[in-house]
Amino acid sequence: MKKIVYNQYGNFDQLQLVAVDIPKIQEDELLISVKAVAINPLDWKKLEGQLKIITGKKFPKGIAFDFSGVVEKVGNSENNYKVGDEVFGTLDAMKGEALAEYLAVKSETIYPKPNNVSFETAAAVLTGTTTAKLLLDKSKMKIGDSVLINGASGGVGMMALELATLKGFKATVVASGEGLNYIQKWNPAHSIDYKKENVVNLPLKYNAILELAGNLPYSKAKSLLAPNGIYLSTLPTPIDMLKSFFNNLVSSKKHIIIQAKPNQAILKETSELLAQNKIEIPIAKTFGIQEYKEAYQFAKNGRAVGKVVFLL
Ligand SMILES: NC(=O)c1ccc[n+]([C@@H]2O[C@H](COP(=O)([O-])OP(=O)(O)OC[C@H]3O[C@@H](n4cnc5c(N)ncnc54)[C@H](OP(=O)(O)O)[C@@H]3O)[C@@H](O)[C@H]2O)c1
Repeated sequence: MKKIVYNQYGNFDQLQLVAVDIPKIQEDELLISVKAVAINPLDWKKLEGQLKIITGKKFPKGIAFDFSGVVEKVGNSENNYKVGDEVFGTLDAMKGEALAEYLAVKSETIYPKPNNVSFETAAAVLTGTTTAKLLLDKSKMKIGDSVLINGASGGVGMMALELATLKGFKATVVASGEGLNYIQKWNPAHSIDYKKENVVNLPLKYNAILELAGNLPYSKAKSLLAPNGIYLSTLPTPIDMLKSFFNNLVSSKKHIIIQAKPNQAILKETSELLAQNKIEIPIAKTFGIQEYKEAYQFAKNGRAVGKVVFLL
């Protein structure tokens, strides 16, 4: 089968399309014939070696972790699925090697794909919903509270805006250009074009700030927080973890760094929201597996609105 791998850390030139054996499944595993794989920024952060403390020195490594597909084989002790079932799921983000024609997975990694969504949408939505849900849960906001979403036009940001709107929070979105225009469909309370306005100068106070863009550190965001407000970041650095620990000991304003991890409850909720047409995600462009370099370059350039997805 075809699979994308890399043998050393570096740029997209390190990616290679290789032919490998179809994985053999254990008794408690399923073989998935992969139909779609979504790109996330974490894919290239790992490729570049930004997380090598966690990802280690063992090569070859595969890439990508959000996928959808069809059950091709079922292990003897696996009773939840049958051949032909359509599913979507997320591999461990640090170990994921989803960009391949077949995957061997355990059933807790996947969930039935709702019939009303395409394979590409099912793959595209997962990290966004998982992360946005965790951010909003940890924000402890109540109906009517205000949230600032910095990076609101990205995969996580759009989902955070959609879920925030569903929960009755008032969202101020920070994005630019076409992305900022696109997300108006979810009726944010306020919109900031970061190319024209500096969020730090905003006169408003927020119950929660979601930092998804990498340019609004807690030190700058703190003045925008209401008393007891919570700043939540998806961008863990060791120094920030240390700073947040000491800040949270003494300040009523909290600094939380999250690491999203999907589970069956989140997959179920995502599936239900999709089935009820309550959430959606635009697909910026699809690529074939052999177009891996163009696809990753296109996604990293970040100029298109929506997720970039491989169709297999
Ligand atoms: N810790 C975790 O568990 C976790 C989980 C998921 C994601 N993440 C991380 O969270 C970040 C967001 O993920 P994502 O998938 O949403 O990425 P994404 O799709 O690339 O979105 C990033 C968004 O930030 C916007 N942006 C860029 N510069 C900005 C600025 N100065 N001010 C405001 N917005 C700006 C971009 O808009 P333009 O196109 O207009 O520039 C883009 O829409 C990534 O760094 C990702 O690695 C972490």
